[in-house]
Amino acid sequence: MKERIEELVNLANKRISEALSGKLLNDVKVEFLGKNGSVTSLMKGMRDLPPEERPTFGQLVNEMRAKIEKAISEKEAELKKKEIAERLEAESIDVTLPGKCVKEGTLHPITLVKNQLIDAFQGLGFQIYEGPEIELDKINFQMLNIPEDHPARDMQDTFYVTDNILLRTHTSPGQVRVMTSSKPPIKVMCPGRVYRSDDDATHSPIFHQIEGLVVDKNVSLCDLKGSLETILKKVFNSDDIKTRLRPSYFPFTEPSVEIDVSCFECGGKGCKLCKGTGWIEVLGGGMVNRKVLEMCGIDPDVYSGYAFGIGLERIAMLKYHIPDIRMFFENDIRFTEQFK
Ligand code: DAH
Repeated sequence: MKERIEELVNLANKRISEALSGKLLNDVKVEFLGKNGSVTSLMKGMRDLPPEERPTFGQLVNEMRAKIEKAISEKEAELKKKEIAERLEAESIDVTLPGKCVKEGTLHPITLVKNQLIDAFQGLGFQIYEGPEIELDKINFQMLNIPEDHPARDMQDTFYVTDNILLRTHTSPGQVRVMTSSKPPIKVMCPGRVYRSDDDATHSPIFHQIEGLVVDKNVSLCDLKGSLETILKKVFNSDDIKTRLRPSYFPFTEPSVEIDVSCFECGGKGCKLCKGTGWIEVLGGGMVNRKVLEMCGIDPDVYSGYAFGIGLERIAMLKYHIPDIRMFFENDIRFTEQFK
C-alpha cells in the first residue's frame, strides 16, 4: 500500500512539474484531489480495510494529500511569478523613444480679438446681445435714419434676400433691436458677422464687427472717449495709448466721430504702420441721433446715448500685422496656427 501511495505522489509531482499554465495545473489538481480524484478514491477504499489498519492508512493518505497540495501551491506561485514577469516584459515601455505628437488647435485671430474685446467690455459692465444676420431693411437701415435712396446706402451695398430682407451690413441694427425691446439704462455690445458687396485686400464680403451702445441720463461724448480708451489700452496691450476723436458723419449718430489711437508701434513718432502720422483710425462712433432714439420709443429729451462700431478684422490686422483681409477666410493652416 505504501508503494502504491508513493507511486501516486511521484506521478502527481511529475504532472505538476509538467503543467505549464494555471489551467493545466488546475486539471492536475482535479485529477488527484478532486471529488473523483485518485487521492479521494483511495480514501474511499479505506472502508474495505480491516479496522486496525485504517488509522495508519488514513494517516498515510493524509500525508500524501498534504504533499500534493503543497507541491501544487508552490507550482501555482511559480506560475504566477512567471506570468507577471512575462507581462512586464511584454508591456515594457521604452521611455527614450520619441513621443507621438498630438497637434494642438489654435483660436482663429478673429475669435481671439473678439474674446479680448468682449472681456474688456464685460469688465465695464456691457452685456452681450446677438441679433440675426438676416435682417429687415427697416431695422438695418430705416430705423437707423438711413431711408430708402439715402446716399449712405451706397457704402453698404449688400446681398438681398427679398426687397425688404437682406444680410445685415453692420451690427448697428442690434442697437435698434435692443432699444425697441428694453428700457434705459442700456449698456450692450453686439458682436457678429456682417456682409457687404466688397472684395479687395482690405474689404471682404463677410467680416465681423462689435457694436456698442449705452443709453442713460446724462451720457456724453466724454463717456464714449473714456470707455473706448480703457478698452483699446487692453486690446493693444499698452497703457500709453491715447485716443483722439475726429469729426465724421454717420446718419445714426449726431455728432459723429472717427476714433484714432496713438500708434502703438512707434508711440506716436510716425512709422510705416501709422503712415507717418502717429495716429491709427480704429473705429467710428458718436452720440445716438435723436431721431433714432425717437424711432425706437426713447425720449431724447430725457435720455442720451453713445454708440460705436468696431471692425474686428481691422483690429486684428493692425495688432498682428496682417497685410490682406482675405487671409482670415482662406483657412490656410500655416496662417491660422501662428496665433497661439
Ligand atoms: N455701423 C458703422 C459701419 O459699419 C459703424 C458705426 C459708426 C457704428 C458709428 C456705430 C456708430 O454705432 O455710432 O460703418
